[in-house]
Amino acid sequence: MLIVEDLYVKYYTRRGTVSAVSGVSFTMQKGEMLAVVGESGSGKSTLALTIMRLLPRNAVVERGRILLDGIDVLKLSEDEMRRIRGSKVSMVLQDPFTTLDPLRRVIDQFIEFLMEHGLDRRSAEKLALEALESVGIPKTLAYSYPHQLSGGQKQRVAIAMAIALKPSLVIADEPTTALDVVVQKQIMDLIDTIKRGGTSVMLITHDIALAIERADRIMVMYGGEVMEIADKGTIMSRPLHPYTQGLLASIPRLGSDKIPESIPGYPPDLRNPPKGCVFHPRCPYADERCRSIKPQLIEVEKGHWVKCHRVVKA
Ligand SMILES: Nc1ncnc2c1ncn2[C@@H]1O[C@H](COP(=O)(O)OP(=O)(O)OP(=O)(O)O)[C@@H](O)[C@H]1O
Ligand SMILES: [Mg+2]
Repeated sequence: MLIVEDLYVKYYTRRGTVSAVSGVSFTMQKGEMLAVVGESGSGKSTLALTIMRLLPRNAVVERGRILLDGIDVLKLSEDEMRRIRGSKVSMVLQDPFTTLDPLRRVIDQFIEFLMEHGLDRRSAEKLALEALESVGIPKTLAYSYPHQLSGGQKQRVAIAMAIALKPSLVIADEPTTALDVVVQKQIMDLIDTIKRGGTSVMLITHDIALAIERADRIMVMYGGEVMEIADKGTIMSRPLHPYTQGLLASIPRLGSDKIPESIPGYPPDLRNPPKGCVFHPRCPYADERCRSIKPQLIEVEKGHWVKCHRVVKA
């Protein structure tokens, strides 16, 4: 369904060039939930915006290919991309305020979005109401203004818009971070039902515990690179990258008197990334090779990819 090949994205800034995504490759299957996890600044949102073709103007895709249902996304014209956005791939953001105009009724914004994709007003209104109802937003709320909705309700509206045209892929970038715990669970349950309906979901989160709870597979990013990919059971039982191991050790456990350990040190400065392995300055096992040679992402067992010199193929 989705193939990302050797993707490189840079931001040009007055203070230098930021290598935000470097050599990222992975695939997604139809109907699966892939969690993309990593600390702040690891390139998760940049990856999402590249797939959506919504990067800011100071960003450049230097290299790579993105195939979505066989469509070469990076080669499409702006017009072609506008037709695909929302209908083949859509995005749910952390802050639904940015999706919704506070001054216009929810239903009007929804209708306009659907009409941009070729629906006439009557079928757009019908589909909008159906989509809203499917996420638990009743008709009365549909005809109100965004400021009359709670954060969770706004996020439901954003999800309804993301799924209305039955896209193959929904990218959810920290969809629950701005919400309280109870509403977080409701929104994640809703995202689960989308997945069960056959839509692939890319869940972007810094929260590895949430990723483990919800996703089928997990992709760990660090410093703009993929460090490890595997199904969630493998990540939990046999994490091979020291960074993945560090993330797992940082999960607080209820009822345990062990204090979770955070990974010492800070993420790299991507204007001037470290030589060799990007993680070596924080890695407890780093040796001379790690400081000088960049490791390759290799498949150590079926479906389990790791980028670390210490890991050898079984
Ligand atoms: N518009 C921009 N201009 C310049 N640099 C940017 C821009 N947006 C992001 N960056 C830089 O690109 C790198 C990757 O950022 P990105 O937002 O993709 O990370 P992230 O993993 O989504 O982080 P977070 O968890 O904080 O959302 C960071 O070093 C960030 O500072
Ligand atoms: Mg982000």
